[in-house]
Amino acid sequence: MPLITFIAHNGDAREVEAESGHSLMQAAVDGGIDGILAECGGACSCATCHCYIDEPWRSKLPPADDMEQGIIEGVLEPEDGSRLSCQIEVRDDFDGMEVRLPASQY
Ligand code: FES
Repeated sequence: MPLITFIAHNGDAREVEAESGHSLMQAAVDGGIDGILAECGGACSCATCHCYIDEPWRSKLPPADDMEQGIIEGVLEPEDGSRLSCQIEVRDDFDGMEVRLPASQY
């Protein structure tokens, strides 16, 4: 199972074992990552699973589809690496990935 590091806005980092085939959001929730709220349960409608994925990982991901992109445009502090973690399916080759979290999901 790939190990993924979630980095809170204050720099606190926590590693979580993610299950391939599950969403990155689910890995965060199962791992008790406070910064991922996931209020819609992964339906791509709440944006409270917003995260930032920097290179080199960003380019390994399938691009956000139109629906995800539309939601991202409404988040508080969008960046180039902004993604919705519920729309990213974990793969074995994500081992070592770092995921930054925004200061707030609202
Ligand atoms: Fe709601 Fe991702 S969990 S948009």
